[in-house]
Amino acid sequence: MGREFASVGVVGLGTMGAGIVEVFARNGVAVTAVEVTDAALHRGEGILRGSVDRAVRKGKLAEEDRDALLGRVTFAVGLDALHAADLVVEAVPEQLDLKQRIFAELDRVCKPEAILATNTSSLSVTEISVATGRPNQVIGMHFFNPAPVMKLVEVVRTVVTAEDVVTDIEALCGRLGKVDVTISDRAGFIANALLFGYLNQAVSMLESRYATREDIDAAMRLGCGLPMGPLALMDLIGLDTAYEILDTMYRRGGRDRRHAPVPLIKQMVTAGLLGRKSGRGFYTYEKPGSPVVVADEATPRSDAEAAAAARGVAKVGVIGSGTMATGIIEVFARAGLEVVSVTRGAEQSGRTCEALKTSLNKGVVRGKLTEAERDAALGRVTWSATIEHLADVDLVIEAVVEELSVKKALFASLDEICKPGVVLATTTSSLPVIELAMATERPADVVGLHFFNPAPVMGLVEVVRTIRTSEATVATATAVCRALAKHPVVCADRSGFVVNALLFPYLNDAVKMVEASYSTADDIDNAMKLGCGYPMGPFELLDVVGLDVSLAIQRELYLELREPGFAPAPLLEHLVTAGYLGRKVGRGFRDYSKR
Ligand SMILES: NC(=O)c1ccc[n+]([C@@H]2O[C@H](COP(=O)([O-])OP(=O)(O)OC[C@H]3O[C@@H](n4cnc5c(N)ncnc54)[C@H](O)[C@@H]3O)[C@@H](O)[C@H]2O)c1
Repeated sequence: MGREFASVGVVGLGTMGAGIVEVFARNGVAVTAVEVTDAALHRGEGILRGSVDRAVRKGKLAEEDRDALLGRVTFAVGLDALHAADLVVEAVPEQLDLKQRIFAELDRVCKPEAILATNTSSLSVTEISVATGRPNQVIGMHFFNPAPVMKLVEVVRTVVTAEDVVTDIEALCGRLGKVDVTISDRAGFIANALLFGYLNQAVSMLESRYATREDIDAAMRLGCGLPMGPLALMDLIGLDTAYEILDTMYRRGGRDRRHAPVPLIKQMVTAGLLGRKSGRGFYTYEKPGSPVVVADEATPRSDAEAAAAARGVAKVGVIGSGTMATGIIEVFARAGLEVVSVTRGAEQSGRTCEALKTSLNKGVVRGKLTEAERDAALGRVTWSATIEHLADVDLVIEAVVEELSVKKALFASLDEICKPGVVLATTTSSLPVIELAMATERPADVVGLHFFNPAPVMGLVEVVRTIRTSEATVATATAVCRALAKHPVVCADRSGFVVNALLFPYLNDAVKMVEASYSTADDIDNAMKLGCGYPMGPFELLDVVGLDVSLAIQRELYLELREPGFAPAPLLEHLVTAGYLGRKVGRGFRDYSKR
């Protein structure tokens, strides 16, 4: 028979602790909630009440259940109140000496058989455990923020944690409605080891004015389907906590520069901008603790103001006959713009036209557009194999093969053919846009318009501004995206723009984690989905994107930024060499042939 855990203690009622109290109390466990001062206790009680009241308002919790839930919680100042607890979960700030002191004290106060757990995100559970006389009863229980919502708990066993302690905590997670993954004691465990490099890199992008906070966040939400952008997530985590986690991961995790906290984080912490909990972090909130973002001085100008600087675009040229070109033609034609498609020959034009018809017909079958709308969209497209037909368009988008020499030659020709003031855009996902701009005599009019595949479905377009792109060109490009009902994010002309630059290093890190035998592809996929709300785990995504494509993008990032941590994972290279390219060939990280 495993342990019952009839009574549980939680130490520290901040962002995490208050949520952890709620998790236990919701599941019928009596909780003693402990803080350091009366004021902190009061604040912690406020967080808990706020959360359960919200649940009642949203109809997710009955009033009597809330009252019963709150009835299970006892609030107290000081650890002495925990003498009868079967399990104590510590959630105080991420500092080793503080946690060690608390564990030494818990060891003295708690009954000998009690299990002591830490919610640390990055500190060594082993180092915390040796502050007690019972290291075999110390374990990591790493909940995710917000604890009542996120399903994952990382259970961290040290080399001395007793087997029955691990089994009993795993069983308890099940009772709490959580899914556990059990892992050994390594900085950042699974989820944070994969998450924090990405968060830090996003802050670095903001610090270098690579893109605005809104655009960085929108890019990751719309480009990757993440529940929140990285900067909004930093605000939720708390910048002080995030700083400590990064700092510890940097020191414990082999001094990977990507974990060295970006200076801006420390500055914001010093200035008291801690995120949601203090009412201001990367964004400004209605009041401390509120999730409601309000406008501040960094809020972008309204769309109308920005659109005033834009040039009118009624007719567009799309060059190319591949997947992206076809998707882009469809997007423009459906939005009511006239489109001139230019391919290398009549045969390519015929194929592209067929592909467009197939896609539009699918839309009709799925009820996304009517037959009349389909016919109107088709009627807006003219098919040509002669680039001279682009003489009177207002915008050109090229989506030809990803080769610099080919694209440069194309831009030089466009420069000869197109009327002045036309926006010349490239859909390149990896070449420097400035190279294409400089192939023309009008670099101010050249911009990147990076659509995502499938273009008719994906809501995001990265608008890539080079150091020569004019304001009017950026304004026109963003206005065009809005007219297509796409969300434009403006970024600088650097490898991977926003989405790929933030996404692929994370995927590469996941591969390195499997390579190091720290965890399995299944556990990692689960951890990211259940702990961070990602729509797909990294290995599922790698298999969909294609391992060859992923490797190529990662190589580009590594070559441009020379960041040692970006070096492609050898396992990724080997899988590509072995021909395991992902779903498209039936095998990647997983074997699809048998499914
Ligand atoms: N914020 C997150 O998203 C997140 C997610 C998972 C895990 N964690 C981990 O959870 C732990 C807590 O982080 P947080 O974000 O909740 O921090 P927080 O700053 O929001 O809360 C910490 C609380 O601990 C209290 N405290 C400090 N010293 C104490 C003591 N001696 N006795 C009792 N209470 C004390 C503080 O008053 C404060 O209320 C950290 O180890 C962190 O790494 C955080």
